[in-house]
Amino acid sequence: MSVEQHLTDRNLALELVRVTEAGALAAARLVGRGEKEEADGAAVSAMRIAFQSVHIRGTVIIGEGEKDHAPMLYNGEAVGFGDGPEIDIAVDPVEGTNAVAYGRPNGLAVIGCTPKGGMFNPGRSYYCKKLVVGKEAANVIDLDAPVADNLKKIAFALGKPVSELNIFVLDKPRHVGLINDIRIAGARIHLYTDGDVAGALMAADPRHQMDVLMGIGGTPEAVITACALKGTGAQMLTRLNPLSDEERKNIEADGISIDTIRSIDDLITSNESYFAATGITEGELLDGVAYRGEYAITSSMATRGRTGTTRYIQAWHNRKKLATMSSVRY
Ligand code: FBP
Repeated sequence: MSVEQHLTDRNLALELVRVTEAGALAAARLVGRGEKEEADGAAVSAMRIAFQSVHIRGTVIIGEGEKDHAPMLYNGEAVGFGDGPEIDIAVDPVEGTNAVAYGRPNGLAVIGCTPKGGMFNPGRSYYCKKLVVGKEAANVIDLDAPVADNLKKIAFALGKPVSELNIFVLDKPRHVGLINDIRIAGARIHLYTDGDVAGALMAADPRHQMDVLMGIGGTPEAVITACALKGTGAQMLTRLNPLSDEERKNIEADGISIDTIRSIDDLITSNESYFAATGITEGELLDGVAYRGEYAITSSMATRGRTGTTRYIQAWHNRKKLATMSSVRY
């Protein structure tokens, strides 16, 4: 049976939600403690254990980094039970490590995946330029156009004035010029210190007030975002944007074109893609982990590219019972 056939009746995103839930529950204990590495480490360990119950032969394409620096979920690591389809995995156990360490919004545990070979491998590229909009404006954006031109076209496609557009921008010194351009164009800006996966997903979905994401963010995060947006009709245009000479040299050495503009379909070439996310800290996209008596409550989403279906899943985890079955502290 081909991988595609095997996956036709199976929505891996639903299985992966249990993995992101485990990561979020483990990291949520450390929200606001200022301990970035501890929160990340807790999520990594919990997710790695949870992956073992998923019947896939998974390979981490985008993970915590190279084997020598990342003991678990490192690039190239085999994950899953070890049977079933061969799957490429992009995982960020804590997307927004500072958001979690300092109790800011939009900290998520996230996984994107495709059948083997269906995902762009960004190698040692860390940053890329991104422009994200929902379905209605998917065909009007141009990564190289002046900010004001893009905003004018997006506003027209959405049937509202530029002054009512809401733009998600990471609050970084590199975005001073971009922020200035958006202000001159007259749109509303929402600055966040971290979390452009959540930002992109909100910009892509008309149910959220955000209309556009603009700026330079993580390349791994762009691939994970593409897993989530594939099949929704939304668009994300990206171009690698190395922020140091070393990054540029590494990308060139990896043989990856820097100048190419990559859309969602270039980042995720397979029609079959899955995305799962669970909120760690409170956010507009997903609620963070909450505690009520013996329960820990998680909010997650599970998206499948082939069907374009997104499910929102709230789970009440009985911590007392889990404590008797698991080494992870929920
Ligand atoms: P981490 O999970 O690696 O902390 O990423 C958080 C994040 O805000 C991403 O959402 C974003 O793509 C990237 O960092 C931007 O990188 P930087 O903070 O270095 O500008």
